[in-house]
Amino acid sequence: MGRVPGYAIGADVELPAVGLGTYPMRDEQATTAVRDALGLGYQLIDTAAAYGNEEAVGRGIAAAGRARADVFVTTKLRGRDHGYQQTLAAFEASRLALGLDFLDLYLIHWPLPRIDRYVQSWRAMVTLRSDGLVRSIGVSNFTVAQLDRLIEETGETPAVNQIELHPYFPQEQLRAAHAVRGIRTESWSPLARSAALLREPVVVAAARRHGVEPAQVVLRWHVQLGTVPIPKSSSPQRQAANLDLFGFELDRAEMAALSGLARGRQGGDPDVHEEF
Ligand SMILES: NC(=O)c1ccc[n+]([C@@H]2O[C@H](COP(=O)([O-])OP(=O)(O)OC[C@H]3O[C@@H](n4cnc5c(N)ncnc54)[C@H](OP(=O)(O)O)[C@@H]3O)[C@@H](O)[C@H]2O)c1
Repeated sequence: MGRVPGYAIGADVELPAVGLGTYPMRDEQATTAVRDALGLGYQLIDTAAAYGNEEAVGRGIAAAGRARADVFVTTKLRGRDHGYQQTLAAFEASRLALGLDFLDLYLIHWPLPRIDRYVQSWRAMVTLRSDGLVRSIGVSNFTVAQLDRLIEETGETPAVNQIELHPYFPQEQLRAAHAVRGIRTESWSPLARSAALLREPVVVAAARRHGVEPAQVVLRWHVQLGTVPIPKSSSPQRQAANLDLFGFELDRAEMAALSGLARGRQGGDPDVHEEF
């Protein structure tokens, strides 16, 4: 099985260029999807404590039987566990639920600025990495101001910021800020949850030209931006298509046409969104 291309996000840590999202799958559906995806050649699996599926995802990882070095597991700290000690305990609960000795990437799921404990959580994540329990650490849904506060107060730059990103919300400014700071961008809802985006005439036309599916055009747009999409699919056929992104290339006009679909975010605004 060939390796998925990837990006160095630290010494000896490579983030695969595409992964599988697991929300909102649970129980047997999550186990089967993760097992199937790893069997197809996926390496990056994205979960979160808040998804309530870490045990099911862990069973899928075990069932796939891949070498540990070929699997890259991300999970996330949920809102109720912000704080230094809380983060250490929450990480341990996630690690045990996933059934792994160590994790590959741990993210603060949302910044929750009103609660104002994300800096303490970040310090705990630095400790977890020093202790060898997680290979790399990052954040999700952080604004530039929140990223800079972490960096200024701790001297530690997140390896990754996982943000809402798709052609309807291309996040040009935040991506540029990441590039300057050496932060890799991961794209959540990379297909904008599918339906409308995949029927856009510019997407459909590009798919016809390249002989691929509309979803592959959108995911290839992410790859060419250098962002890491984590599409969720429970179907092995769609999972296979979503991984098959490296045999064609969008030209400049196609890239621009997709970025030209920009209209705004679909999910929460990091400055005010709260989930615990
Ligand atoms: N950090 C955060 O705050 C945050 C927030 C939201 C999501 N996420 C992560 O990002 C992942 C992906 O985001 P998402 O699930 O919101 O949206 P998404 O991946 O953009 O879209 C998922 C939808 O697209 C469909 N789909 C997948 N592949 C397809 C294909 N090749 N052709 C047609 N339809 C296809 C799926 O249906 P089928 O399953 O039927 O294929 C599903 O309905 C989540 O699973 C989660 O891991 C993170």
